[in-house]
Amino acid sequence: MFYPITRLRRLRLNQNIRDLIKETEITLNDLIYPMFIIPGKSRSEEIESMPGIFRHTIDNALKEISEIVELGIKAILLFGIPEKKDDIATGAYSKKGIIQNAVKSIKKEFNDLIVITDLCLCEYTDHGHCGVIHDGYVDNDETLELLSLTALSHAEAGADIIAPSDMMDGRVAKIREVLDDNEFLNIIIMSYSAKYASAFYGPFRDAAKSAPSFGDRKSYQMNPPNIREAIREIEQDIEEGADIIMVKPALCYLDVISAVREEFNHPLAAYSVSGEYSMVKAASKMGWIDEQKIVLEMLTSIKRAGADIIITYFAKQIAKSISK
Ligand code: PBG
Repeated sequence: MFYPITRLRRLRLNQNIRDLIKETEITLNDLIYPMFIIPGKSRSEEIESMPGIFRHTIDNALKEISEIVELGIKAILLFGIPEKKDDIATGAYSKKGIIQNAVKSIKKEFNDLIVITDLCLCEYTDHGHCGVIHDGYVDNDETLELLSLTALSHAEAGADIIAPSDMMDGRVAKIREVLDDNEFLNIIIMSYSAKYASAFYGPFRDAAKSAPSFGDRKSYQMNPPNIREAIREIEQDIEEGADIIMVKPALCYLDVISAVREEFNHPLAAYSVSGEYSMVKAASKMGWIDEQKIVLEMLTSIKRAGADIIITYFAKQIAKSISK
């Protein structure tokens, strides 16, 4: 039935009516806040390219976490920057490593908070790649051994969810096996399943000091033009035992999020990455955009595309505008 019988503008008449028929809403349940942890005491360094985001020592992180919990955010994602880096990422799987210590302290004080650990070697290798290098190539199967050691150490420290972001083949199966063998039956694996080799990670690499010292990550992270391949990656992760799947980055990959949502019934996370954050912050600083409105519109689009969970550096900012 067409105009004048149907007048779609009727449903946009005022705020209450618009709210009544709103199809997508960001809630506190959807948000994961990423955090960077550094060694030492009582230090916080603001990340230059990510205003408002800090690298914290554990004691200072605890202070920010109490703010997060107060806001009603229920999950954080941890990245560690170790004291020393080497070519086999020793800091990643050391039982007293930065993340292992951070998880223990956080869970002791905030038992209900969902603590997710990013599982990757790039923050811990001196060459900045996500695995062990042989002849200039990241060796898949040898990397799996180190990833599984790291996963076990995260589980032992008390992580609720382990999130492998390395993009090695077979990592989910390997992690599931080591967790099962050690009776960690209820640890969730949230796999960065379709993770693209994206320029949007630039500011993160400043934050985590993890830029590769040679080459790039294109031999393990996905090529941005591909979407069918994303489905294959996700199929594989699900078969290997992933509980939650992820698409990363988010904004330029809304079509991928939507295709994955159509294809699979697993909970789906989307990572709105550092570059997405920094661009908004920069434009806002110039006075060119209305930051809060842009953030809400961006996050809403990610959820509308089909994501259940959004990992975002804007989590605190957006939580402040959502009622509990
Ligand atoms: C580690 C990892 C990266 C990000 C999350 N985990 C960086 C990378 O792959 O280079 C990026 C997150 C962001 O940009 O916010 N492999």
